[in-house]
Amino acid sequence: MNQSPIPAISFGDLARKLNGPCPPVTRNPGWAEWNTEVDDAIILRYLYKHHQPRRHLEFGTWQGFGACLCLEASAATVWTLNLPDGEAKDDGSWAYGERVIDDAKAPPGAITANYGQDESGPRTYHRTDAASYIGRLYREKQLGHRVCQIYCDSRDWDTHGYPEGFFDSVFIDGGHQTEVVISDTRKALPLLRPGGFMLWHDFCPHPDIIAGSPSVQGVTAAIETMRAELTDQFATLEWIDPSFILLGIKR
Ligand SMILES: C[S@@+](CC[C@H](N)C(=O)[O-])C[C@H]1O[C@@H](n2cnc3c(N)ncnc32)[C@H](O)[C@@H]1O
Repeated sequence: MNQSPIPAISFGDLARKLNGPCPPVTRNPGWAEWNTEVDDAIILRYLYKHHQPRRHLEFGTWQGFGACLCLEASAATVWTLNLPDGEAKDDGSWAYGERVIDDAKAPPGAITANYGQDESGPRTYHRTDAASYIGRLYREKQLGHRVCQIYCDSRDWDTHGYPEGFFDSVFIDGGHQTEVVISDTRKALPLLRPGGFMLWHDFCPHPDIIAGSPSVQGVTAAIETMRAELTDQFATLEWIDPSFILLGIKR
């Protein structure tokens, strides 16, 4: 089904629309050089600072970088979910892992794999979205007392204990497969208060970017599938251009 494109808004225009303070200067590096942990982070930090959530929900903790953006920009308590043993790709390999040369700098209790030796030393890899890696950044920054870490597949998360409208903001950045994004969005929707905002990461409507990234493909397809219900629930649904962030402000 052909739908009209999701409206786009620049970061500057969004700040003006929200009556927020002047936005910080962005790098505008272009898509090839876009760095989420720099360029999207500037926007996220700004939105949390402006919105000042008291209760924030984040799907997909990984090492806690995104949770720290919210924790440092506001006084929020953050609820965040992650698969306890990490995400696997279709072929069973780890979705998130890195080679670790100096074991002493890694959190104890990590899931590791060894692949022999090369000129740099042992080829030891750590699964960076599992076990003690999950949320390690907010713990290292002594912010763990403001975090409720939930360990499960988000599709199995039982939300019955949460009242409607419990959260002031939601960041959807867990599994990027279309059905996971749809499930996460539908679970979070009743838990988001009117006037609260929902953010989806890895959304970008450019065909070239979609073609080059399975994550963007999954998220963009999920948003297209849910378009009618999102339009119904959100007063504003806008892609922040340029970025990988889609913002919805709930009616
Ligand atoms: C892109 S990373 C999250 C990055 C994080 N939001 C940040 O800003 O730093 C995605 C995370 O979602 C987790 N994940 C993937 N599928 C999931 C699922 N079905 N349920 C819960 N967590 C999931 C992965 O293990 C990974 O840690």
